[in-house]
Amino acid sequence: MKKIQISPSILSADFSQLGNEIKRLEEGGADMIHVDVMDGHFVPNLTIGPPVIKALKKNCSIKFDVHLMISPVHKYIEAYSDAGADIITIHPEATDDLEKSILKIKSLNKKVGVSLNPKTKIDLIINHLEKIDLILIMSVNPGFGGQKFMPEVLDKVRHLKKIRSEKNMSFDIEIDGGINFDNCKLAIEAGANILVSGTTIFKSNNGDIKKNINLLKSK
Ligand code: DX5
Ligand code: ZN
Repeated sequence: MKKIQISPSILSADFSQLGNEIKRLEEGGADMIHVDVMDGHFVPNLTIGPPVIKALKKNCSIKFDVHLMISPVHKYIEAYSDAGADIITIHPEATDDLEKSILKIKSLNKKVGVSLNPKTKIDLIINHLEKIDLILIMSVNPGFGGQKFMPEVLDKVRHLKKIRSEKNMSFDIEIDGGINFDNCKLAIEAGANILVSGTTIFKSNNGDIKKNINLLKSK
């Protein structure tokens, strides 16, 4: 059984205080920081890029779990690696050659993540699983925090968990979007071992980050 890790999404943080917010997450027991990079093209929202990530990473000792919701993504992989990303997660629809992009991330000695939108099937990545370190299952359509959890994606989590044990693989299964204190147990039981959460961690219990992270972990 893989250890349950929490990767808070800074999309729900106070963007005018990002450095302090990241410190709060680190002190609050976050296992890594989920950085949602959006380009206004792959998703209808625009957030931060390599310069901001580089500045934030300087004062943070935990891993940056960088979720690239950008396309085309291949030509930007190196920039996010240089900026300090530890896990680089891409969407298969954002590259014209998934194998090439996976190998590029590996060549930079970073962990490879691949993200499946709610409607994207596992078939799209099945032939690459042995090279992937983390699969990010979207439980919302990407672009915004605070959306409603889509429970139907848990079938994909269960299926991936089954494939992983049948093929004796060890990739992490991360789930992202609408995770809260009620549905996180379902996600964990289905097989997710890394929970991304923005709204629940930053907004619940008067923004008591430490309490909210512990509540998610204790499920
Ligand atoms: C959505 C992002 C998610 C989202 C999670 O595109 O990928 O990481 O910010 O935020 P909540 O937990 O608020 O749904
Ligand atoms: Zn994300």
